[in-house]
Amino acid sequence: MHTNTTPRPSTTPSLFPLAEHGIDSLETLRDATMRCRACPIGEFATQSVIGEGPLGAKLMLVGEQPGDQEDRQGQPFIGPAGQLLDHALAEAGLPREQLFVANAVKHFKFEMRGKRRIHKSPGQREAAACLHWLEDEIALVQPEALVALGARAASSLLGRAVAVMKERGQWLARSDGRQVLVTLHPSALLRVLPDEREAAIGLFVQDLRKARRVLQHQ
Ligand code: URA
Repeated sequence: MHTNTTPRPSTTPSLFPLAEHGIDSLETLRDATMRCRACPIGEFATQSVIGEGPLGAKLMLVGEQPGDQEDRQGQPFIGPAGQLLDHALAEAGLPREQLFVANAVKHFKFEMRGKRRIHKSPGQREAAACLHWLEDEIALVQPEALVALGARAASSLLGRAVAVMKERGQWLARSDGRQVLVTLHPSALLRVLPDEREAAIGLFVQDLRKARRVLQHQ
């Protein structure tokens, strides 16, 4: 199901009751995700990386998983993909400080190539193991609507496989009533050939602009 109308505030309770597993703040969420070994990747990461931004932010952006720099510094979207995202958000008129920016998976998954840690996409199992942490974040932040950056975020948020190129730019409904705007992951834009990149970023900004109305609701 999809709708292109402006999302309205959700009044539906969260999918996972927070109190049941003792998460009542970002600090308790951070501590719990630091200890999480429900899948193998937590053991190899430097730390967990939970979302950042104001509780009560109207709009929440969700990426895939922390990258190398995010893993080292403990903050989401601060590396090359984050820089591209910051640029696109500014172009789209979405001030990052008003948004809550998070990831579907809280630990960095990588493989070693020589001395380099190379990003590996999290699989279904890791995403499923992390889903309740993401839902805890949504329950803490209580956003009106969300933006899914890429296929992993979209499928975690919507509970189904999402064909990002087909469904990008659309508002899709979650089972809690919140709307999710689907678009590409900024890392995908970094992989676009240089002479096509500007146009691809332009389309990404166009998608993000559709979320601006959420910030303008009273
Ligand atoms: N890619 C993501 O999906 N999230 C980050 O925080 C960084 C890179």
